[in-house]
Order: sequence, then C-alpha cells, then structure tokens
Amino acid sequence: MIPESVLNQIQDRIDIVEIISAYVPLKGAGRNFKAPCPFHPEKTPSFMVSADKQIFHCFGCGVGGNVFSFLMKQEKKDFREVVEMLADRAGVEIPKDKVISPQAVERSTALVKANEFAAGFYHRFLLEKKEAEDARLYLAKRGISDATIKNFKLGFAPDAWDGLCRAAKERIPDAVLEKAGLVVSKKEGGFYDRFRRRILFPIVDVKGACVAFGGRVLDESLPKYLNSPETEIYIKGKHLYGFAQARKAIHDSDAVIVVEGYMDVIACHQAGVENVVASLGTALTVDQVRLVKRNTKNVFILYDADQAGELATLRGLELFLEEGLDVKIVRLPSGHDPDSFIKERGVGHFKEALSKAQTLFDYKLAILKEKFDPRAVEGRVKIANEMVLLFRKVPNEILRSVWVRELARELTLSEEALMTEVHKAAEKGKGFTVSAPPPPQNEVRSVEKLLIGLMLDHPDFVLRAREEVRADDFQHPAARNIVKRLLEGANTSPLVSQLVNFYKDDPDAVRLISLSCAEIEAILDKQKTFADCLLWVKRSRITTQREGLRTEILAAQRQGDKNRINQLLYDFNELNKGMRKINEKK
Ligand code: CTP
Ligand code: MN
Repeated sequence: MIPESVLNQIQDRIDIVEIISAYVPLKGAGRNFKAPCPFHPEKTPSFMVSADKQIFHCFGCGVGGNVFSFLMKQEKKDFREVVEMLADRAGVEIPKDKVISPQAVERSTALVKANEFAAGFYHRFLLEKKEAEDARLYLAKRGISDATIKNFKLGFAPDAWDGLCRAAKERIPDAVLEKAGLVVSKKEGGFYDRFRRRILFPIVDVKGACVAFGGRVLDESLPKYLNSPETEIYIKGKHLYGFAQARKAIHDSDAVIVVEGYMDVIACHQAGVENVVASLGTALTVDQVRLVKRNTKNVFILYDADQAGELATLRGLELFLEEGLDVKIVRLPSGHDPDSFIKERGVGHFKEALSKAQTLFDYKLAILKEKFDPRAVEGRVKIANEMVLLFRKVPNEILRSVWVRELARELTLSEEALMTEVHKAAEKGKGFTVSAPPPPQNEVRSVEKLLIGLMLDHPDFVLRAREEVRADDFQHPAARNIVKRLLEGANTSPLVSQLVNFYKDDPDAVRLISLSCAEIEAILDKQKTFADCLLWVKRSRITTQREGLRTEILAAQRQGDKNRINQLLYDFNELNKGMRKINEKK
C-alpha cells in the first residue's frame, strides 16, 4: 500500500495536461483541453482533459480518471508501476513495502527479545522494588490479586528517564530498544524510556511472545493509557489482548467474550470468567475477527454501556456476521464496564447479563426503533432499509429467512415483499428501498450525475446537499458510494484527482466521477440546475414512499384489516399533498 499522502504529493507536483500531451495532441479550450481519444478510434475529438480538476474523460468510450489512471491504460502498467514512474519524475520518495526477508525475521526476533526483556524487567520491578509500592497499592485497591499480576505478567515502569535504558545496557542495543518502541531518541543524542511511572500490560501475540505494551497511569492524569507505537512486530488491530490467557477457556466453553479494555479482561479472568479478550479501544478489525474465528464460532460482545448505543459500533460487529460467526450482544447498565460491574454486582449478576445477550437482530432493531418512529410509514421503511443492510451480511440462508419473517411481523410489512427485496439486495450487494421501482442496471440516472458533477465543481453545493440530500436518494451503487463520501467526509472540497485514488479498485466509480465532471462543463446555469435536481430528489422520494404504501395497502386488503387500510390511505393522501406542494414551487 502506498500512503495517500504520497499519492497526493506526487499529484501536486505533476500536471496531467503535460503528461497527456506527451501522448496526445491536446488542443486548448480555456482550462479544458480536447483531443481524439487515444483509447478508441475516432475522428471528432471526444477526449477531454481538465486542468483544474486534473482529470480526463472520453465521452466516446467512457474511460476516465486521474493521471495515474491515464498512464495505467496508456502504458499498460499496474498502479504501483505508474506511481513509481511519476514519483521518480516528481522527486517524491515512496516508502518501501515491508517484505519478509531473512534479515527481517532476524530483526523481529531481536524486537521480541527486547520486549521480553522489558516485560521481565517491569514485572520484577513491580513485584520486588520499594519504588513500586504505590503501584502495588493501586492494583490492590482495584482488587487485583498477586496471582493475576503474575498470570498477566503486569509490570511497573520506574519513575525515571533511564530505568529501562540502564537495565538493558550491554544486553540489548539501544537501536533495537528504539525499534521496539521502548525508548525514544533525544535530540541531543542518547535515548530515554518511553514508559515511566505506569502500570504495564504486556500485549502478547498468539505464540505468547511479547510484542508491545499498554501503560496506565496511577492517577487521573492524561493520557490514561500510553501504548507502544506500531513496529515491525506490532500492528494495531492484529492482536487481541488476553488471548494467550483465554485460549484454553475459549476452547472449553466454545465461546469468546470481547470487551474493550485491559482492566476488563483482567477483572473477568480473576472472577473466573476466563474466555475474555479485549479489542483495545479500536474498532474491531477483520484480522481480529479472523483470529476469533479460528478458535470459536460463538462471540459475545460486551462493550462499555456508553458506547454500545452507537450504530457505528455495530458496523464493526457486522464483521462477525460476514465471517459467519454467531454474535450476541450483552448490555450492561449505563455507565458500567465489565470491570466495574463485576466489582459492584458480583460475578453472578455478570453471568446473568451474559445469559440475556441479544442477537444482533434484536439489538439493531431496538436501536433503530429508538431512532426512527416505527408507527409512521416513513420510519418503518427506514428501519426496514437499515435492517436489510444487516441481513445481507448473513451468509446463512436459513437464519436470513427467520429474520425476514420476524422483521415482517415487527413492522407489519409483507413477508414476501421483504424477502424479494432481501434477495435483490443480497445479489446486488447493496441495500434496497421498500418496493422502489427496480433501479436501472448499469445506467446512472442523469440527475445523479448532475448532482455529483455539481458537488465536485464547488464545495457550496456539497454544503447545500448535506442539508437536503442523502446517499440513499441515489440508486446506482457507485453514485451512492461517492455521494456518501462527499456528504459524510470531513472535507467538503476534496480534489477530484485525489478522490479518484480512493476508487482505484472500482472502475465504475472512477468513470462516474470523470463523466460527471465532464458533463457539468456544459451546464451554464449551475445554480438553477442544482435547484432542479433537489426538486427532482424530493419528488422521487415521495414516489418511492407511495410505492411502499401501495404494497402495504395491498397486504392490508388481503388481511381485511380495515383500520390499517384507512390509516394507510390517509398516509397516501398526505404524500400526494406533499407532491402537489413541490410541483407548485416549480
Ligand atoms: N485506550 C487507549 N488509550 C487511551 C484510552 C483507552 O489505548 N488513552 C484503550 C485501552 O486499551 C483501554 C481501552 O481503550 O483498556 C478502554 O478504555 P477505558 O474504558 O477508558 O479503560 P479501562 O480499560 O476501562 O481502564 P480503567 O478501568 O483503568 O479506567
Ligand atoms: Mn474500566
């Protein structure tokens, strides 16, 4: 992987117009240039290059992209090769990829040795030294036993700048300590300890080797935890804290409990619940999920009560579903984490909370019902949409159909309609709109192109779109994806040529970006066009809702549910009124 910053740096120093003119006779037309397309035979030029946006597009054959995309096609090289080519020209250095050579293996062994040495040093320091008295008191006050301290090999770093440096003298070279992230180099030369006056939690890999540390302060000062930096042997998101200690219990119980913090793992373990690991504050990664999967299929997620309500957290959990694991979610009373809960309520109540774990289905539905009104049609459609996004992550057909039945009942929607949509969504790998007209297969609707083109043309349009448009107003998956990035990203004015780099594995998206930008060049009144697009979006939303209601009304008629029919007809009428209002505005 070449870092994004490097790609941006190269693009900053290279002009696409200059690069392309070496291959194609470009004719200037303002800030835009035209030429016969080099990628398909033609007489009248339909190949366009934009100097402002640093992209190209051919209206004839549909190819487009940034300077990297052009050279890949022209020179028939892969991404890395063209980046290297241009980096050379721009005088930018590409950081070397980590290849595993024999020397690298030797180096990692040296790094592990350094970490192991440090772990031993900190551990003995905690157990034996007078200077560690307050650390021992702190741990005792938190109810951590000596046996636990030994089991997790907890340590304490002396309150000094050179505690570890001095202990390691003659045994581990400074340069290795530094590579392991244990010491930091001083400006004036020499090194100082990274960890000082902190309780240390060694992080070990699956083979039991110490690869990093987390260090906690003894008081309220910040940062609460200081962790080892990433090194050749430690990549964040690859490890699960406590896995080595939990492995046997995970196998015996055929289940794992995933918590957030060091202290949670330790508290559970000490209370006799030993199949516990921590994701260490970050969102769960695929690597962590696979590590779990190699050991058990049954996962309990037990995150701090304050965060669990977040739909964002759920996205990480969906990773488990995609990998075909059986995930359940445990909710603790608000303000508690496993450590505090066990301490206050005892392990009996903790186990009871585990036994009440919810499926992802129940959990997500509960959150969505708090977020959207399940009594209103619009709310139900939204809930159904979000839920189906979850369903399509379930590889198991049977489980999926059980969930569909349940959801249909919960939302009083027709089960067949819902199932059809789930199948559609699963096939296309995207969400669905209840009974929306089937989206065109590969054509992007012109209004979608216009909106994207306008947003990429000026950040004002992004700001206004953020208030009035949603990603799911767009039908084409690539369009939806791009719009989502524009609406949700921190940056309202990403450079188009840089945006293209995000989609280097998604040719549909790249083509859509360059096409939208090229088409927008012909628009004279962009403000008016934007306003028209917004009206169109509003109308189309109502049409979609009406379609949804129609299905529901049919279902209600089949069931002979008079009240419901009346309610639905009323809603239908309201939608019609809304539509009339919009049309009057025109
Ligand atoms: N974390 C971190 N850096 C921080 C804060 C948190 O790396 N500055 C990670 C740690 O792995 C921590 C986890 O996020 O264990 C959960 O954070 P938190 O709930 O704040 O800590 P606890 O483990 O509960 O620690 P304690 O009970 O001692 O407050
Ligand atoms: Mn805690």
